[in-house]
Amino acid sequence: MEQSSRVEHPPRELKYIQYEHRLETQYLPAIRALISKDLSEPYSIYVYRYFLYQWGHLCYLAIDPEDSSLVGVIICKLEAHASHSPPTLRGYIAMLAVSSAYRGHGVATTLVKMAIDSMKSRNADEVVLETEETNIPAMRLYERLGFLRSKKLHRYYLNGNSAYRLVLLLRPVDLDSAADLALDDAEIYR
Ligand SMILES: CC(C)(COP(=O)(O)OP(=O)(O)OC[C@H]1O[C@@H](n2cnc3c(N)ncnc32)[C@H](O)[C@@H]1OP(=O)(O)O)[C@@H](O)C(=O)NCCC(=O)NCCS
Repeated sequence: MEQSSRVEHPPRELKYIQYEHRLETQYLPAIRALISKDLSEPYSIYVYRYFLYQWGHLCYLAIDPEDSSLVGVIICKLEAHASHSPPTLRGYIAMLAVSSAYRGHGVATTLVKMAIDSMKSRNADEVVLETEETNIPAMRLYERLGFLRSKKLHRYYLNGNSAYRLVLLLRPVDLDSAADLALDDAEIYR
């Protein structure tokens, strides 16, 4: 039963670390397992490597120091969008997952804040992502952190569910242009 396996204590002892290539052997299988558990559309290993090889510095892991197991992960990228005039530097949250036993203790909040801080320190103008409209925990998390719904994407996922595109503006940008261009990021790995 999931309920009985939940950790009751606040996981303040968890270790949060930035991903590095030397951690691939130890953590990539666990990252894939954690993320694909809740996904309707599993990604190939090449999708993970696409992000981790180029933007490992925007990927953070939450580790339980008791056994060094992975309990949470966020995977992101940051790219210039020259097609947007003037060009913007756009952060993109591609994947986020927390082990079900550790949810509700602020682990995802910490991971998202770390990724946003890292993007801010690299002069990001905005951060975007898509999430299923039925994913209430994710919608609440992102809206609590200041993300705004910029667009509804009808029947966006293979399972027929719709998505919301969410955007967090870190500097003043044209919200309409920013929202439209975010689709480019999402389609790269679908
Ligand atoms: C969505 C998901 C990442 C949230 O992870 P989480 O670690 O439970 O999230 P948090 O604990 O940070 O936030 C959840 C709630 O716990 C609360 N919370 C409890 N203790 C907290 C603490 N110490 N600090 C901060 N928040 C805390 C938060 O306020 C939040 O409340 P809310 O429902 O009002 O937003 C997780 O449910 C998950 O992995 N889902 C499956 C994958 C998924 O949907 N990923 C997102 C795809 S876009």
